[in-house]
Amino acid sequence: MFIHRRRGWEIAEREATPEAIVTGRRALLGGAAGAMALATGPAAAQWNIFGRRPNMPALAERAPLVAPRNPKYEAGRAITPEPEATTYNNYYEFGQSKSVYDEAQALKTANWKIELAGMLARPRSIGFEDLMKQVSLEERVYRHRCVEAWAMTVPWVGFPLADLVKLAEPASGAKYVVFTTLADKATMPGLRASWYPWPYTEGVTMDEAMNELAFLSVGLYGKVIPPQNGAPIRLTLPWKYGFKSAKSIVKITFTDQRPVNFWQALQDSEYGFWANVNPEVSHPRWSQAKERLLGTDEMVATKIWNGYGDQVASLYVNLKNERLFA
Ligand code: MTE
Repeated sequence: MFIHRRRGWEIAEREATPEAIVTGRRALLGGAAGAMALATGPAAAQWNIFGRRPNMPALAERAPLVAPRNPKYEAGRAITPEPEATTYNNYYEFGQSKSVYDEAQALKTANWKIELAGMLARPRSIGFEDLMKQVSLEERVYRHRCVEAWAMTVPWVGFPLADLVKLAEPASGAKYVVFTTLADKATMPGLRASWYPWPYTEGVTMDEAMNELAFLSVGLYGKVIPPQNGAPIRLTLPWKYGFKSAKSIVKITFTDQRPVNFWQALQDSEYGFWANVNPEVSHPRWSQAKERLLGTDEMVATKIWNGYGDQVASLYVNLKNERLFA
């Protein structure tokens, strides 16, 4: 007998009315950081989170990187046109606007190394190319939901984060995995914004890291991942707000201490450690009930866990006292 089990995402709920224009997160940060953010001028003006850039740049050629698509991870939505997903980005090391595409082309990925550190029997550094020989790549189409209420659906090429954890062989006491990303003053003009707690770091629990959805992406749309999307290797955590998905990773640390992440260090009340998607828990300055799809600007209802509850809700059943959604 064929029984169609409805997955978390398969709820026909489409909303058409855009929400009021909301000012971007940086322009409204409190205290000294906020004042400096406002003083940055044009960047702040571009931070209309429902806004579009007027000129979309031509895309640079990228080498093919094709891997078999894993049919388990269908997105239930149309794939976002590639030019949208690769020219509308958040990559603060290159600047504070969505138009960091040009600046990000300065990212140097040759001889990339990832340091494996912390609670490991064998802390070491591994070359990106060497790592690629030890993992098996696949393609997954994931929905990506930014905390700013825009969303995209893209085919990532990569491998499960769990595979990297197994390769690293952490000690049994390790409870968290922390990702540190590149901070290169020579190529990243955004680092001059000294009020940010560089380098950009993010972290997850070991249970989250071992979850089947947690992914390390090295490709996008069947080609190597472009700089602006986090070359050569980035995290992809589709049930969490996009800021958890750290780009251009240079260090992975195993620890028993819960990390304080980049945005959390800046404004914990707005960007907490867990940052799981939930339409019913508003950001302090805007609703999370709907999201704008890159490409069509259609407004659709946001789903709890970004629609991935079947895979991840069980991770959180004993954590009711934690601020899981902000
Ligand atoms: N990683 C680094 N190193 N620097 C960043 O500024 N921005 C985050 C995340 N990872 C960011 C980062 C945010 S806020 C989002 S929404 C996603 O990257 C955006 O990924 P995309 O540009 O590929 O859509």
